[in-house]
Amino acid sequence: MDYIITTEQLTKKYKNFISVNKVSMHIRKGSIYGFLGPNGAGKSTTMKMLLGLTSPTGGSFMVDGGHFPNDRISILKKVGSFIESPSFYTNLTGRENLDIIRRILGLPVNAVDDALELAGLTEFGNRLAKKYSLGMKQRLGLAGALLGRPPILILDEPTNGLDPSGIYEIRNLIKSLPSLYDCTVLISSHMLSEIELMADDIGILNHGRLLFEGSLDELRQSAVQEGFAADNKPGGKDTGLEDMFLSMIDKDNKAIKAPQSDKVSQRDKVSQSDKVSLYRKQRARL
Ligand SMILES: Nc1ncnc2c1ncn2[C@@H]1O[C@H](COP(=O)(O)OP(=O)(O)O)[C@@H](O)[C@H]1O
Ligand SMILES: [Mg+2]
Repeated sequence: MDYIITTEQLTKKYKNFISVNKVSMHIRKGSIYGFLGPNGAGKSTTMKMLLGLTSPTGGSFMVDGGHFPNDRISILKKVGSFIESPSFYTNLTGRENLDIIRRILGLPVNAVDDALELAGLTEFGNRLAKKYSLGMKQRLGLAGALLGRPPILILDEPTNGLDPSGIYEIRNLIKSLPSLYDCTVLISSHMLSEIELMADDIGILNHGRLLFEGSLDELRQSAVQEGFAADNKPGGKDTGLEDMFLSMIDKDNKAIKAPQSDKVSQRDKVSQSDKVSLYRKQRARL
């Protein structure tokens, strides 16, 4: 298998807290890899390590044949990134903002127009960033990541804070990227409903540990095997998948809190079913 990013027991420890715990990921070249997990799971920390923004305290990783940290510079040249909410100079236009990044990266002048076009922002390039809608700001962040058409994109929750139509727009854009130009996308989210519509492969992270890695089909098969079968609700073909995801997280949370696990209270059960219905509601809105 042709992997473009692999991590081996990648770990990040802050004092006595383990944020990322022995994570071994395998990202196929040309794929969209959905990195899924609840808030605080360690997604951003993992991505920051891949981008050289924070150092691993254990394990290692490789990007496109290069080892970190020895090949740090050549790795970074191959990666475009969008980490958390990107900030811009709001008194400058979208185009001017991109041009600043372009100069820092030492890219040719036409890289800005190319990135604006890839991100669907050409007609708004000359508008001040402060006049951009949230969706347009996210697109500008993506355009920044796309400057120079890097072969690898690392996108940390790029749809965070967007309304359903903004999510739909950004999702379609990201989905189209590997066919627009030859790239691999690592994208994080805390919502399965979002990831399942984009990703070829999925990694599920909870409390810093990778609980599952495989294709969407493999996750579906596991869901059926575990009894989370598809039901007949309208548009609900994959509710079994969501239940599987929530159950996986819930089981892991309970295992971590093992001393209290023999006292599974009614309240826990209720809160779990509430969570399932909340996720279903979120899906229904998208
Ligand atoms: N600089 C830091 N110092 C201490 N703990 C941190 C630091 N950065 C992140 N963490 C902790 O690591 C865990 C994972 O955080 P993060 O990677 O941001 O999760 P996610 O992106 O999945 O929401 C959280 O519990 C967070 O509080
Ligand atoms: Mg995060």
